[in-house]
Amino acid sequence: MFSTVMNFIDLAPWTRSTASVLSFQTLTQNERTKHIHKIHPYKGKFIPQLAETIIKKNFKKGSFVLDPFVGSGTTLVQSNELGINSIGIDISEFNCMLTKAKTNNYNLKTLHSDAERLLASLHSNEPPKTPCNRYLKTWFMPLPRSQLTLLQNNLLQIRSKKNKDLLTIVVSRTAKSVIATKHRDISTLKKPIKQKYYCEKHKKTCSPVIDIKPKFRSYLIDTLSRVEEYKKVSTSAFTKSVACDIKTAQLKKILKGKLLDGVLTSPPYVGQIDYHKQFEYAFELFNLSRNDQNEIGPLFRGRRIGAQKRYVLEMVAALKNIKPHLKPNAKVIIVANDRFNLYPNIAKESNFKITKRVNRSVHRRNEGDQTPYQETIFTLIAL
Ligand SMILES: C[S@@+](CC[C@H](N)C(=O)[O-])C[C@H]1O[C@@H](n2cnc3c(N)ncnc32)[C@H](O)[C@@H]1O
Repeated sequence: MFSTVMNFIDLAPWTRSTASVLSFQTLTQNERTKHIHKIHPYKGKFIPQLAETIIKKNFKKGSFVLDPFVGSGTTLVQSNELGINSIGIDISEFNCMLTKAKTNNYNLKTLHSDAERLLASLHSNEPPKTPCNRYLKTWFMPLPRSQLTLLQNNLLQIRSKKNKDLLTIVVSRTAKSVIATKHRDISTLKKPIKQKYYCEKHKKTCSPVIDIKPKFRSYLIDTLSRVEEYKKVSTSAFTKSVACDIKTAQLKKILKGKLLDGVLTSPPYVGQIDYHKQFEYAFELFNLSRNDQNEIGPLFRGRRIGAQKRYVLEMVAALKNIKPHLKPNAKVIIVANDRFNLYPNIAKESNFKITKRVNRSVHRRNEGDQTPYQETIFTLIAL
């Protein structure tokens, strides 16, 4: 068994002690969340340096790369830095908006004036024009819910779509941080808390936020400076992100008939995250359409054998949909926590060959469970 697996493995181009080099354990938090990457929290994203290393080793300036599970856009941001054209697809409209907000090329002058106007509207204490919805009433304190409704109204007045996307992301980051629940539960909401409580995360008494102005202001300043920082390293390479299901995406139309030099992605894993649900408040606040039922491997379907079988079928459908759009010998690089060893079967069923596997250890920093685990970087070539 071991020798069969070893036949697939070609570690040569990755040089010495690959697993530990690719763990990026020594990077500081600031380096891992450099420039535009930190404009909004997102659970389960690539470390930018991992995406960068893989892209540099496998693609060259001017290449055309797809990330079919683009999430928060790490592949697109790092590809652009290296002068590589890229397209991202994601089932979640919110994730695509986040990716666009990171990769848009902004006119800083109009961006600053739209941002200032939005901030001023919050300080003017004008009442919102529309009543706040039921979701906001449940999960936010009275002043934050009317402040968020006011921002929601005023975002609609912004003419530049690019500026609007970015400022929506700032409002979303603010909203996430002021949800009236225990800090520990902010990513997976359990119940609203509207008074002081003992916070297990911070080991002290905490209270729900009663005024969003200070947070909104500081996130706005932070975001604008990150946009400026990223502008210095970004290139004119093309980026685009599209919200749709990769199993059925009209790739010919999306790629405008161009063939891909390769794919780099980290797909959802079986039963780990509900990607729509983690930003439920944003879907409610910004009236975004949802497509939960077509998520591959969501947490709500669990990890049992039935969920694993469905995961295999759906990943096969995704790869089969991508295959006709690859140049001959294009590499499909998949970073996955394949704890159920499903990828050999996924590759076989979709008519790909695994030509390389490299393991890397992952050291969690932000989430409750700090136990390290293994991830595999698979390289596939179409047969
Ligand atoms: C592990 S995350 C990707 C994270 C990304 N590498 C990053 O750095 O942010 C997987 C993504 O796959 C998306 N996804 C799940 N099912 C999908 C489908 N059927 N079509 C397209 N995207 C899907 C999820 O919404 C999620 O954003």
